[in-house]
Amino acid sequence: MAVLVNPGEHDTVVVVDFGAQYSQLIARRVREARVYSEIVPHDASLEEILARSPKGVILSGGPKSVHVPGAPGIDQRLWDAGIPVLGICYGAQLMAQSLGGTVAATGVGEYGRTPIRRLGPSVIMSDAAEDTEAWMSHFDSIVSPPAGFSVVASAPGAEVAAFEAADRALFGVQFHPEVAHTPHGQDMLHRFLHDVCGCRPTWTHTSIIASAVEAISAQVGPDRALCALSGGVDSSVAAALVATAIGERLTCVFVDTGLMREGESEQVEETFRRQFGLDLIHVKAADRFFAALSGLTDPELKRKAVGETFIRIFEEVALEHSDARYLVQGTLYPDVVESGFGKAEVIKSHHNVGGLPETMDLDLVEPLRSLFKDEVRAVGEELGLPEEILWRQPFPGPGLSVRIVGEVTRERTEVLRAADAIVVEEIRRAGLARQLWQAFAVLPAVRTVGVMGDERTYAYPIVIRAVESEDAMTADWARLPWELLERLSNRLVNEVPGVNRVAYDITSKPPGTIEWE
Ligand code: XMP
Repeated sequence: MAVLVNPGEHDTVVVVDFGAQYSQLIARRVREARVYSEIVPHDASLEEILARSPKGVILSGGPKSVHVPGAPGIDQRLWDAGIPVLGICYGAQLMAQSLGGTVAATGVGEYGRTPIRRLGPSVIMSDAAEDTEAWMSHFDSIVSPPAGFSVVASAPGAEVAAFEAADRALFGVQFHPEVAHTPHGQDMLHRFLHDVCGCRPTWTHTSIIASAVEAISAQVGPDRALCALSGGVDSSVAAALVATAIGERLTCVFVDTGLMREGESEQVEETFRRQFGLDLIHVKAADRFFAALSGLTDPELKRKAVGETFIRIFEEVALEHSDARYLVQGTLYPDVVESGFGKAEVIKSHHNVGGLPETMDLDLVEPLRSLFKDEVRAVGEELGLPEEILWRQPFPGPGLSVRIVGEVTRERTEVLRAADAIVVEEIRRAGLARQLWQAFAVLPAVRTVGVMGDERTYAYPIVIRAVESEDAMTADWARLPWELLERLSNRLVNEVPGVNRVAYDITSKPPGTIEWE
């Protein structure tokens, strides 16, 4: 069974998901208020919700209209279950409609920042000014609240922008308090969470660590665990947490594929062997990976070759450590939510570390299963992991092999690694590292003619790729300053032997992908 971080001592608020992006943002805002939140799908039964002993329930926004046939609903017993409920946007419309109010397709939708006016006393809006703003995104409008509810705010296109029945602890807001564009939005959530639900603000980073360590110790007992460490933030924080719980009974396996970025394997070694004193098996397997990649040019065959070699090596190590019963994985909460609440999440985390054997008889330990990425970083910081690991940009499992177009050889890998290190260094120096999703170098499978000194050269071009993105599903090519591009061009040609030209990739995703292969 997977470890859940909350073993029961934190007050819980359940977010009912009517549209995954809305619900994740709400759940994160609740956590920022130091209250533990869990997301459940909208078709979860009332019994499933009650099983979490929630102190409050939040109904999220969603893309549907309550009038569309088959629009998602909610168990009507919720309103009288004695638990405070806050409905947001679609959730508010659902509350209004279910309890006898009116939701109409008025034809006047509202999108974006909208002025709202407070009307009379309110529990959740008590911190808001009389005239304020809120972020709206709705087409249908609540035109009359249910009996027993008072309207506490209105907007030009939403007569009932907020309504409440404080005696029943039921609240609805047409706007989005979870969005940064709603000033006082977080205050409203605070009022709901702390004043109405009575939640204690115990969900702090130290308490996350304490709960996780307790849960890991309870799950693993006296047994041993293995962890495939990739050097990325997720597997590193997962390993550090498990190490805190079970110490030397954790063996970390770091497979150095020879396809890592510059300094990456030294960083992992330094952090985990020296700083954490962990049992770290550093498998230096570059020869095996280059042999497996030899002669391959097809991107999918290259990926497969790297993945399979990784699995074989991990299996060999596991065989030597056959007393281990557990495998540590860095699965995150968004993976759990987005894969349908626990059905396919393992596939994605395997993918993250370059593929792990599916047939190995090891139970999973997933200490990050209920954490968002920002929480993972905060926990890592608290545990003392270095900034280079915590803020490392995403890096594909097959490593540099998918950034070397054509055949991957040792010589071409060295050229790319050196070029990539310059790109990373200059981006960091320009203060852009955290604002860019990724910035790296690509080595195409061509050579070009140049002239250096009085000599004709025939060498590789380097392509710089830098993108901004929220989630890698779409990406925009970054408008890097000309001066930065100029410095990169000079340094790459002058400092990396074998490079005589630099190009900048100005393709967004779609139509391009972020990686070249
Ligand atoms: P693309 O190139 O599809 O990449 O736009 C989207 C994001 O995923 C990363 N990526 C991978 N990550 N194994 C991984 O763990 C892979 O095989 C892989 N391929 C791409 C990529 O770096 C980007 O952040």
